[in-house]
Amino acid sequence: MLIDEAARVGTQTVPSHIPPELVVPYDMLRVSGPMDDPFTVMRSFKEKARIFYTPVHFSNPTGAWVLTRAEDIRAALQNPGLFSSKGVSGFSRLLGESWDMIPLELDPPAHTKFRALLNPLFAPNKIAKMQDGVRESCIALIEALKAKPDCEFMQDFGRPFPVLIFLQLMGLPAEDFDKVLEWEELLLQGKTMEARIGAAAAIRDYLRDLAQARREHPVDDLISFAVQAKVDGEMLTDDEILGICYLLFVGGLDTVASSLGFYFKYLAEHPEQQRLLRDNNALIPDAVEELLRVHSVVMVSRFLTADAEFGGVAMKKGDCIAIYMTFASYDAEEIEQPETVDFARVPNRHVAFSFGPHRCIGSHLARRELVIAIEEWVNRVPHFEVKPGADVRMHGGVVFGVDSLPLTWNGQG
Ligand code: HEM
Repeated sequence: MLIDEAARVGTQTVPSHIPPELVVPYDMLRVSGPMDDPFTVMRSFKEKARIFYTPVHFSNPTGAWVLTRAEDIRAALQNPGLFSSKGVSGFSRLLGESWDMIPLELDPPAHTKFRALLNPLFAPNKIAKMQDGVRESCIALIEALKAKPDCEFMQDFGRPFPVLIFLQLMGLPAEDFDKVLEWEELLLQGKTMEARIGAAAAIRDYLRDLAQARREHPVDDLISFAVQAKVDGEMLTDDEILGICYLLFVGGLDTVASSLGFYFKYLAEHPEQQRLLRDNNALIPDAVEELLRVHSVVMVSRFLTADAEFGGVAMKKGDCIAIYMTFASYDAEEIEQPETVDFARVPNRHVAFSFGPHRCIGSHLARRELVIAIEEWVNRVPHFEVKPGADVRMHGGVVFGVDSLPLTWNGQG
């Protein structure tokens, strides 16, 4: 999620119980290297050790253990009693506050109760009802850009598309689009910590005001649902409502935008795969599963609640664990020929949406957005490729992303 600059300065001391040979002195949040593709760089770390220790990690000033095997990753994600999610995001800390992102920063049993409350809002039948709105937003953006011979994909489509869907999901007015997009960009990509904190505060105030307005005049939307909901017979507190809405803001925007960036970069660079999807739209849902696997953009953290021997390593209570989903999605123990991108791969055991109790609640919505985006692009825009000589910029971090992706469809028909 948010990268705290203080965690990057490299002055941290690795705790004394970490064996020096397991320390990989590399800023995992700034993964850059060959072609600056963060996935390529991350995969090169797999050879270091089954589990190694990075001295730089955003949610812990003394670093984190990094798990590289799918088996270990699933075991940790499945065991919230030992691997706690409390305090992993750092968003409220950034504002000098202490509310949790809900349900992300809760452990069972509280997590289970909030998940049960929210699950029906994201169930497949609910999301199916959003399908027409998702497609309309997608088509509107594409029709606005396709008259030109090229575009900057992230700016013209990748970032605005999920914001339009977020407004629909939350029941927010379309005129709030510009400010929500600006806050989202500043919060996650802002050049200075001040800019990020400013955006974090603006989003908090906006969501708090909205909750108050819906409390006074409830309508049929997600925030009205939250202000009227009860857990254990009690109305939710202001902080709980904020924690839910804030999480949907950060959880549903950057992840989809980043995924779209990597998928469209891949399709632009692989004309034969793009043609396959153009000629047969029915392949797109399976292609999206494979693109989710090869571009599992999210890294999550956990804190150990007790001393434990895990994966052959002695860990201590309070140690932080960094779980890059991309390691599991490329593990040859589970995935046959993980380096091959196979749109017909079945079964496809990726963990792009995590695993265990915190598995992404928005996965049905995300899949719809990703499938519809590819369908409408290949059906409306001629063959597209990366603009010759253009600078494609990507970044690593908590959500791997694409900063700029200039595309052109000037070449072939
Ligand atoms: C391609 C897009 C997406 C990816 C790759 C993704 C990935 C993830 C991952 C890896 C987690 C697990 C975090 C953890 O284990 O600590 C997660 C949780 C979550 N995601 Fe997503 N997500 C995506 C889209 C969305 C969307 C569209 C929404 C909602 C609008 C959403 C809402 C959430 C929420 C609320 C959680 C917390 C669930 C819990 O803690 O029980 N996500 N997501």
